[in-house]
Amino acid sequence: MRAIAIAEYGATPALVDVPRPEPGPGEILVKLIAAGLNPIDWKIAEGRLKDAVDASFPLILGQDGAGVVAQTGPGVTGPRIGEQVYGAFQGVARGLGSYAEYTVAAADGPFAPMPAGLLYTEAAAVPTAGMTALTLVEDAGCGPGRTVLIVGATGGVGQCAVQLAAGAGARVIATARPDMADELRRLGADEIVDHGVGPLNRRVVAAHPDGVDIVLDMVSDRQGTERLAQLVRPGGVYLSTTWSVNPDAMAARQIRGGNPEVRPSAELLGRLTALIDAGGLEVRIERTVPLADAPAALLDNRAGGARGKTVIRI
Ligand SMILES: NC(=O)c1ccc[n+]([C@@H]2O[C@H](COP(=O)([O-])OP(=O)(O)OC[C@H]3O[C@@H](n4cnc5c(N)ncnc54)[C@H](OP(=O)(O)O)[C@@H]3O)[C@@H](O)[C@H]2O)c1
Repeated sequence: MRAIAIAEYGATPALVDVPRPEPGPGEILVKLIAAGLNPIDWKIAEGRLKDAVDASFPLILGQDGAGVVAQTGPGVTGPRIGEQVYGAFQGVARGLGSYAEYTVAAADGPFAPMPAGLLYTEAAAVPTAGMTALTLVEDAGCGPGRTVLIVGATGGVGQCAVQLAAGAGARVIATARPDMADELRRLGADEIVDHGVGPLNRRVVAAHPDGVDIVLDMVSDRQGTERLAQLVRPGGVYLSTTWSVNPDAMAARQIRGGNPEVRPSAELLGRLTALIDAGGLEVRIERTVPLADAPAALLDNRAGGARGKTVIRI
């Protein structure tokens, strides 16, 4: 089957021909129709998990995917062959991922039936961004009476977080360059701050002299985080997806700080399905590319400037 894989950590991702995986006991074979691209994909290619997991090479890239159950292994009672599923399919230890024609997953793994009415390309864009945003918004306690600053709001996680925080009743300040301001307002942001013009913390404090209750940060490094933490009122929350929070430094400011590591699960995906079906969440696809163009798309994402999700047509 065709797949995008790396021969070793640090190697350039390339289109390869590899054997189709076989589902073992308790496993399913998924014929993938689309894969969603996430920053973690190029981070894994660069070796981010080197010390955490023993990888199998060639390692197929890709966490997010959507497709059809094509075969079930011994002992599987569900899902059924032909069911449309979406979820998280990166299996570093077995060299499996979603940038491939087929992948194998545990029958009770982190996937769920696709939301009704979504195309495969749309469903593939949802899992990581949606599960991460849902985890952040709930962990931080976004809700009525809370003002939340979302840093990196134009990206995949950020756009979901804007919708979920606004849907929970919070007042949302979103970072965006001017080309995305209207789109983020449409998604529920109350205020936009252009992160390309001057220091972000000064611009936010000018409009909010008493600070904000919550920062959800998809971008900053440690220094940037320390600067932005000055905006958070005592008793507030600062969560980072880039491991930039030092919880002790936050505690010294009377802020709860954290770096939530999102664990993909069928339960989280099921909740996203319900939100999407109810019209409470949409995921904006910036572009769709053929499988052979995935390596170039990974480079583009690494360079920055995402305006939504990149989806790979298998
Ligand atoms: N810990 C976890 O479990 C977890 C889960 C999911 C994602 N993540 C991480 O979270 C990060 C975001 O993921 P994503 O999928 O949302 O990425 P993405 O889709 O590539 O979006 C990143 C966004 O950040 C914007 N941005 C860049 N610099 C900025 C700045 N200084 N201020 C404000 N916005 C800025 C970019 O636009 P411009 O370049 O135009 O500014 C872009 O829209 C990645 O590092 C990813 O690996 C972690």
